[in-house]
Amino acid sequence: MTSLREGNTPVVKREDYAAPAFLVDSVDLCFDLDPAKTRVLNKMRLRRNPAVAAQPLRLDGEDLNLARVLVNGEGSSFKLEGKQLVLEKLPEGEEPFELEIFTTCAPAKNSKLMGLYVSQGTFFTQCEAEGFRRITYFLDRPDVMASYQVTLRADKAAYPVLLSNGNLVEQGDLDDGRHYARWVDPHKKPCYLFALVAGQLVAREQRIRSRSGGEHLLQVYVRPGDLDKTEHAMNSLMASIAWDEARFGLPLDLERFMIVATSDFNMGAMENKGLNIFNTKYVLANPATATDADYAGIESVVGHEYFHNWTGNRVTCRDWFQLSLKEGLTVFRDQEFSMDMAGSVSARAVKRIEDVRVLRSAQFPEDAGPMAHPVRPDQYAEINNFYTVTIYEKGSEVVRMQQTLVGREGFARGMKLYFERHDGQAVTCDDFAQAIADANPDSELARLLPQFKRWYSQAGTPRLHASGYFDAEARRYTLTLGQSCPATPGQPSKKAFVIPVALGLLDAQGREIEGSARTVVLSETSQTVVFEGIDAAPVPSILRGFSAPVILEHDSSDAELLTLLAHDSDPFNRWEAGQRLALRRALAAVQSADAVHQPLDAAYLDAMRAILRAPELDAAFKELVLTLPGEGYIAEQLDEVDPQRIHAVREAMREQLAHALQEDWIQAFEAHQDNGAFRPDPVSSGRRALAGLALNMLCLAARENGNPVWPGKALQRFKDAGNMTDRVNALSALVGSGSALAQPALERFHALFKGEELVLDKWFALQAGAPDRGGNILPLVKQLMQHPDFHLRNPNRARSLIFSYCNANPGAFHRVDAAGYRFWSERVLEIDAFNPQVAARLARALDRWKKLAEPYRSAAREAIARVAAKADLSNDVREVVTRALA
Ligand code: ARG
Ligand code: ZN
Repeated sequence: MTSLREGNTPVVKREDYAAPAFLVDSVDLCFDLDPAKTRVLNKMRLRRNPAVAAQPLRLDGEDLNLARVLVNGEGSSFKLEGKQLVLEKLPEGEEPFELEIFTTCAPAKNSKLMGLYVSQGTFFTQCEAEGFRRITYFLDRPDVMASYQVTLRADKAAYPVLLSNGNLVEQGDLDDGRHYARWVDPHKKPCYLFALVAGQLVAREQRIRSRSGGEHLLQVYVRPGDLDKTEHAMNSLMASIAWDEARFGLPLDLERFMIVATSDFNMGAMENKGLNIFNTKYVLANPATATDADYAGIESVVGHEYFHNWTGNRVTCRDWFQLSLKEGLTVFRDQEFSMDMAGSVSARAVKRIEDVRVLRSAQFPEDAGPMAHPVRPDQYAEINNFYTVTIYEKGSEVVRMQQTLVGREGFARGMKLYFERHDGQAVTCDDFAQAIADANPDSELARLLPQFKRWYSQAGTPRLHASGYFDAEARRYTLTLGQSCPATPGQPSKKAFVIPVALGLLDAQGREIEGSARTVVLSETSQTVVFEGIDAAPVPSILRGFSAPVILEHDSSDAELLTLLAHDSDPFNRWEAGQRLALRRALAAVQSADAVHQPLDAAYLDAMRAILRAPELDAAFKELVLTLPGEGYIAEQLDEVDPQRIHAVREAMREQLAHALQEDWIQAFEAHQDNGAFRPDPVSSGRRALAGLALNMLCLAARENGNPVWPGKALQRFKDAGNMTDRVNALSALVGSGSALAQPALERFHALFKGEELVLDKWFALQAGAPDRGGNILPLVKQLMQHPDFHLRNPNRARSLIFSYCNANPGAFHRVDAAGYRFWSERVLEIDAFNPQVAARLARALDRWKKLAEPYRSAAREAIARVAAKADLSNDVREVVTRALA
């Protein structure tokens, strides 16, 4: 499907999709596992696809040594064309035939972590998207679904545990200290869901009986020594199973469901059928090593991968352009799961705010930059570059809007119809939306379906323009809603979207005006909503719950925002009002010609104080309100970005908040101390979060006045913290305020957690992400690269140091001397030589370079050009830098 080229990389286009010329009925794989040279015998039964004109069989392969090819047991002629194995003389007709391919590969040398690789002496696989071709020659595309049986053979002492998808049907010993296991997967699957694991592992086990009466064995496999960190993952798995049955009627369809953790993983986790493989980050937790955020991450990723069992595995994608069919939907499901687990209205809102924060701080910039692409892209050079926040998070919002338009029950009906129609198939985003609409024929979604689907085809973040007019005489309030969407690469003009806008009106005292709440479906470029019988100018609360992934442009007055912040019945918009107030002040200070000085006024500070003191509000919510918009989010609002100026303004705002609210921070810190056993529930994690922010603020305030009391308290808390959340919050209060006590605390932290990989990641990340004071962070990052615990080849470690600096610390990264950019280009090239996927993620750090003010802009372009100038770049990095320079 190679047609055009981008730079010099071949581009794959969605419109070129053609059904496969051959179908694979069954695959029988036999592995002789050896790190240096693994032998793979692949016996397939294939047939010609009767729907497609006769053509040669082209199998994908990568980094394989081909030894032998047999067709129906006989030697056969074949060609190698590029990376493909081409068989021209195959039996005619529709009868199945047997194809045997014998290859070898070198898992120990596989530094890309795609296909079969070795991590700390254990074999793992990662096949999505196109890793299976690194294991054997195959029709490596998701619309080819086959039955698999797998035999694993390996040295018994070195690899006592042998796992693959499905059910274990046989195992035994072989000669020479080797043993074998045979696995049969009862479900057909695309090859990207294949997995094997072999090594020294132990499992936490749980037998469960599901609602429908089925019995299942659940296992969480980890390295010996990590078993005490698996309880939360197992609990999350059991909760996920119960939730999917209760909410969507989707049961576990396997007798055995396994999760295996590895330290070397490019992404978060992978939903291989019955054998999920996880980054240790999303499995291992105990109170001493994991924070509340880690616990929440585990719950959502365990849920996410489990939910893929239906949305992704039972119904999969026709081609990789449809990736959001499974990812957007499954993120939506994991978000809903976490919200349902959180329980209270307030805890649900906290989760929603956190999700929106990710969307706005990561996906909105992506949608405004050189890598902008529709939720269903039209083309790619490297599919791994499209596992993006757009496919995942915006994709989830597109599913959420469908639920909003048909209602919660209507959506469950739509899901049911989707599975009735498509179980066992490889389908498209269109098929999904069609099922939701068809199950709700009287809904707005059904009425507007073709237009609604523009969310799948048009990139860019739409603007929602709102303006209100109050006619006192007529007692009428008219709200005009309009929309527009900026151009994105390849899409100069956009058509109107279908935007569900949840809204309501408050009166001047902040009381909800009865009957005003509704969801308006905006489908025109402009529409008006009329409210009759309104006695005084109301305060509109627009886009409640963030009912659509858009930028709301409404110039509400400060007074209106303060009313919303204090009174809105919608907690999301309460939080949002606070963010808008802060953003307005940040932007004014950034854009003023004066030196940065006290950007916050009394009205804002008083409002924040009131929130902090409000007895009816949860701590978690307060922490979110009191956290200022991030530097990246502030930058997105500007046409020309001076990262240093933004950093200085935000720091000044933080210091002001710290000083002005000092008494209240002390109160907040002291009122949120818990001494009981650690529980990661929303209430206690919220209390820890607020206490942590308070401590941060108190140390920041102490920095100016030199008062040693709070840094001393932070150090004490760091020392005797009963859990990692409190400990890391105390440490970051010291580091973040530049306290002299930070260094000894960091040393102590390192000594305490020497052997704990995931904790050491935090140690690196905290230092690389610290506020820059006089350009000290880059030299520190360079120095930490020399630390004996730093391993560039381990993705988690590379992310903890390099990404924390380049992608998450703008004030330190964007240096006037361009040294941050030089460091970035060197690392991109260095990592690309062994792991293109990780390198391409890092390469995205300068996506928004065109917005930068001088001297940053020219220096950034030069750094990207330096990367692009390298002749033998991977497709992954080539695509990112080519687009950036376009
Ligand atoms: N399907 C996985 C998930 O979201 C992601 C795997 C992506 N892996 C990759 N190498 N691109 O759960
Ligand atoms: Zn996923």
